[in-house]
Amino acid sequence: MATVIETKIKQERLLSIIESELQDLPPLPAVVVRVMQTINEPTTSAADLNRLISSDQALSGKILRLVNSSYYGFPRRIATITHAIVILGFNTIRNLATSLGVAKAFEARGQTALDRDKFWSHSVAVAVAAWIIARRRNLNAKVTEEVFVGGLLHDLGKLFLDQYFPDQYAIAIKLARAANISIWDAEKTALGIGHVLVGKRIAEKWNLPPTLTAMVALHHQPAFAKDYFEIVAIVHAADRLARKLGLGDGGDPGVPPLDPQVEKWLAFTPQVWEAIEQDTIKKFEDAKEFMKITTS
Ligand SMILES: [Fe+2]
Ligand SMILES: [Fe+2]
Repeated sequence: MATVIETKIKQERLLSIIESELQDLPPLPAVVVRVMQTINEPTTSAADLNRLISSDQALSGKILRLVNSSYYGFPRRIATITHAIVILGFNTIRNLATSLGVAKAFEARGQTALDRDKFWSHSVAVAVAAWIIARRRNLNAKVTEEVFVGGLLHDLGKLFLDQYFPDQYAIAIKLARAANISIWDAEKTALGIGHVLVGKRIAEKWNLPPTLTAMVALHHQPAFAKDYFEIVAIVHAADRLARKLGLGDGGDPGVPPLDPQVEKWLAFTPQVWEAIEQDTIKKFEDAKEFMKITTS
């Protein structure tokens, strides 16, 4: 009995430390916050955005490398931020800046249990699969763009847990494999909290768009997504697909079942699923460069 109480006390202590680390989490880089705010203002012009992005050499350099990567595959080189803004549009630029900001905030500092390359491979695979599923479902460009970023950042809570609580996170990863359970169940056992809840808290703290917050918070429970069911359902299905195809590492070797509501809403035939898988594998190759630039 004493051990049960001791474990409970230990876990409560750990949870309160996690809570205070979440509260103390540094903000996203200032330029990224300003890009997010500026794009939301209706009076913002391409020139305003250009001035803002160009004021930060690291950000503008990465955006130019991304827009010139094989992922976009534009036939001619895009040499200026102004041109990149015209070609990609405000939404894409905001999404790129957000992704770069999050990747920067959690860049690897030394060796931890979470293999960053495999983590980002999984994330990019989910992003690509989500993009393909959204297009198959005939959703508009804004939504396909949203689910791409959702896929890229859906597991950001894992980065926080691994970075701030490396010993406990190493236990969670080992436990998931040894006991053949999902990584989120293993996280709850080892840390008392899973990556989705942590991710939700971070997304709220950073004022990420509510659509992105919903995909981060609910990709394992799409039935709770209410207003954002469609985009959350897509990231949920894409997460499963990336795992099924063995692209990257989702934290455990399991392939979870597709939520029945999601399956019903997508209503894809086996032939369509097959085509989506083939397209994902193909596009994943192009997206590798995108991942390298985002995380370098
Ligand atoms: Fe997840
Ligand atoms: Fe995932």
